[in-house]
Amino acid sequence: MIRARGLTKTFSRRKETVEAVKGIDVDVTEGELVAFLGPNGAGKSTTLRMLTSLLEPTSGEATVAGYDVTTHPAQVRARLGFIGQGNGGGFSYKVIDELHNQGRFYGLAPAVYSERAADLMGALELTGLEKRSVQSLSGGQRRRLDVALGLMNHPPLLFLDEPTTGLDPHSRANLWEHITAMRERYGMTVVLTTHYLDEADSMAERVVVIDHGEIIADAAPDVLKRRHADDVLNLAVATDDGAAVRAALPDGLGEVELTALDPPGSDGLRVRVATARGADALPGAIEALRLAGVATTSASVRQASLDDVFLNLTGRSLREEAAA
Ligand SMILES: Nc1ncnc2c1ncn2[C@@H]1O[C@H](COP(=O)(O)OP(=O)(O)OP(=O)(O)O)[C@@H](O)[C@H]1O
Ligand SMILES: [Mg+2]
Repeated sequence: MIRARGLTKTFSRRKETVEAVKGIDVDVTEGELVAFLGPNGAGKSTTLRMLTSLLEPTSGEATVAGYDVTTHPAQVRARLGFIGQGNGGGFSYKVIDELHNQGRFYGLAPAVYSERAADLMGALELTGLEKRSVQSLSGGQRRRLDVALGLMNHPPLLFLDEPTTGLDPHSRANLWEHITAMRERYGMTVVLTTHYLDEADSMAERVVVIDHGEIIADAAPDVLKRRHADDVLNLAVATDDGAAVRAALPDGLGEVELTALDPPGSDGLRVRVATARGADALPGAIEALRLAGVATTSASVRQASLDDVFLNLTGRSLREEAAA
């Protein structure tokens, strides 16, 4: 569905030059759901705008739905839906008129666009809002309307730029349900961007991590975590004999860090072990300590997250950057 090679975009304005995208290679197969994950300014929107033919690449090439984005932009656009970042905003149009206008824009017959609009309103839980003005909708409703607008031409390929940004967790989950349902219903390929780590992790089958205009990792979330991050075992043990703890733990378990338990003066140590498969390793670690006469007083596993992946690849925390 998508094949991009060496895609770059440099913006030059007066004396300032920004290399927004620095050579992206990506392939997306029919039916995939791919999330581009990266911090602000990483080049996500710029990449999407090039793939949708809205922005001409500085160099490189991309074929989308079988057509070259530079030489055949009209053919590309006819085959995709694009929901841009932020919402349309400030519309005084009625919801139903927005949808019908979109249908007219794609050259659909009135009978066809009326039926599609009604169908999408139902599927995206917008029924009853037909006569409301767009600006009166809640953030979540408006984003669902954006999705409906993007689907009016029944595109085989849907691009969504930060569909869930600014929505509360409930609306985010709800929108994801709708995107997933729409995808099944219409058999679409979906490419979206997000800077929410948790939703990329739980919802996307494939995550393309982008930073400073480059793809730094591209795989399923579980594969990324296995490759680029460790789980962490957090134990507390009822001994101050650090050497005994180290000797008892199985060889090759992972890097062991020992610290005094707080509050100061408590007996025992906190044991932190970075290891590949935390949940599998935990029982063996506790048993090995027990056999060495060391009692474990608490134990937990923190699973590797996509933020650990980003941190290990870039030295920066995406979560902290997003918070900042
Ligand atoms: N029209 C433009 N002119 C100049 N610079 C631009 C333009 N559009 C984007 N940029 C710059 O290109 C870089 C990438 O921007 P882009 O919008 O692609 O990032 P993004 O990953 O979508 O970020 P965000 O998460 O904030 O949406 C940024 O440094 C941005 O300032
Ligand atoms: Mg963006």
